[in-house]
Amino acid sequence: MSESELKEVLLTSLIRCAAKPDFIPSFYNRFMESSPEIPPYFKKTNFEKQNRMLLHSLNLSAGAVSGEPFALRELKERAESHDRHHLNIEPHLYDFWLNALIETAREFDDKWNPTIEHAWRTTFQHVIDYMRRRY
Ligand code: HEM
Repeated sequence: MSESELKEVLLTSLIRCAAKPDFIPSFYNRFMESSPEIPPYFKKTNFEKQNRMLLHSLNLSAGAVSGEPFALRELKERAESHDRHHLNIEPHLYDFWLNALIETAREFDDKWNPTIEHAWRTTFQHVIDYMRRRY
């Protein structure tokens, strides 16, 4: 799959998922339950705001992977907010994040298939690798 096909497949899947209001809350539930290490990070979080920000960030990720300057700038900021000097998100925690995201998308996208899964995995693996490198 070319980069632009990958992006197209991911974004159309994300639109189907995000059309259901429970998509992001359901992701956070799954993410929290995936390890006892996760919930303490979100003790003081305003989830109404957080849900909006995450959806925005997921949309931009597709653009960041294909090198769009605006999206790359945003990703760089995200990596900084999550690094050891700020939120201090240890690198191993991203595996829980990715698994929770893929499992939630699988549940919410009624057209889910191996090509779509590949698009999600490839895109967010790139994003995660980037965030980890900047820890
Ligand atoms: C590539 C993966 C991730 C993306 C795209 C992402 C995205 C975001 C975004 C957009 C925000 C809000 C803006 C900001 O504070 O930077 C945020 C906040 C946050 N993220 Fe992540 N995140 C990721 C992985 C993780 C992981 C693995 C953890 C582990 C616990 C985590 C914990 C947090 C926390 C604690 C906040 C602050 C919540 C608050 O304001 O109370 N994130 N994230």
